[in-house]
Amino acid sequence: MTTTRTTGRDARPPALSARNLVVEFPAGRGRKVHAVSGVSLDVAEGETLGILGESGCGKSTVGRSLIQLPPPDSGTVRLADVTLTGLAPEELRRARARIQIIMQDPIAALNPRRRVKDLLWEGPSIWGSGDDTHGKDARIDEALRDIGLDPATVRDRRPHELSGGQCQRVCIARALLLDPAVLICDEPVSSLDVSVQAQILNLLEATKRRRGLSMVFIAHDVSVVKNISDRVMVMYLGKVCEVLPSDGMHHEAVHPYTRLLLASLPEPRRSPDTGLSDGGEPLAPAGPAADLPSPLNPPSGCRFRTRCPLATAQCSDEEPPLRDIRPGHLVACHHVEPRRNHP
Ligand SMILES: Nc1ncnc2c1ncn2[C@@H]1O[C@H](COP(=O)(O)OP(=O)(O)OP(=O)(O)O)[C@@H](O)[C@H]1O
Ligand SMILES: [Mg+2]
Repeated sequence: MTTTRTTGRDARPPALSARNLVVEFPAGRGRKVHAVSGVSLDVAEGETLGILGESGCGKSTVGRSLIQLPPPDSGTVRLADVTLTGLAPEELRRARARIQIIMQDPIAALNPRRRVKDLLWEGPSIWGSGDDTHGKDARIDEALRDIGLDPATVRDRRPHELSGGQCQRVCIARALLLDPAVLICDEPVSSLDVSVQAQILNLLEATKRRRGLSMVFIAHDVSVVKNISDRVMVMYLGKVCEVLPSDGMHHEAVHPYTRLLLASLPEPRRSPDTGLSDGGEPLAPAGPAADLPSPLNPPSGCRFRTRCPLATAQCSDEEPPLRDIRPGHLVACHHVEPRRNHP
């Protein structure tokens, strides 16, 4: 039986859950891009779920379908007790205030003609909490201070008068001003300098803890996702291949694709407690890049099989179900057995 549950942490109701999301894009001549093919996930209250995978595997498409921009072709998304998929437009508009997204390119996300104070007030004026014109300036200033910007310096500036890092902070402040329950971060630091990346990641982490936010954090940088996430979901060609706790991920990952991804890190970190390596031996990359399969015509059975050193006939005949191998650890691979003696 296929297991679609992707959290095993505790019994609290998820802040966000999705079941069997499917997104396909028309690609001409009757063909379609199978961007997301049956993805399910749960995010607990206050939890950060990282989504990891190489370019084009469907991470952003999952993120966008979670906020219904656009809705998936099929599948369901629930925000706490509200099913977003199938809501009437007005109800969806109201529900969206509780789930916000931060995009990869902060400058493109901001209207260049508007001043920071107006950019920040867009959300409250759309979502109906912006009627309080007396409190407007105070709320804007507080939102800017919360993300480490001086209101007097930036309030009246336009995006081109800010640095990339400042623009991303404005995007974060804009999302947080609506007091969302869930924040989707789609590669929020990829376009920034390394030093600014660390500042923004620390800021997101601190904000998450202070507000008890749930987050979905999308990136293709393994170390960034691992550091900020409680659990990591690894995607390959529109499918989930493994979900596991980020702690000890290098040691515990068993799906051949996850092992391949982890091999892209320069070297495993050493545990401060034991001084031992935090990582198992990664698999060597299999197959030349020219063999990369296309989402227009994904391989039968296991989509990773054309690059997998463990592939057998079963892998092309049968799709491996995503199943628990121990609490909180799910894997979709015919060659991985559940662990019988897990605690
Ligand atoms: N609007 C669209 N029309 C057609 N195809 C699309 C569209 N958006 C995405 N795709 C395709 O869907 C697949 C998944 O794209 P997506 O942007 O979700 O990948 P990603 O994992 O976010 O990649 P990256 O790491 O480069 O951001 C890709 O093959 C992409 O070309
Ligand atoms: Mg993307």
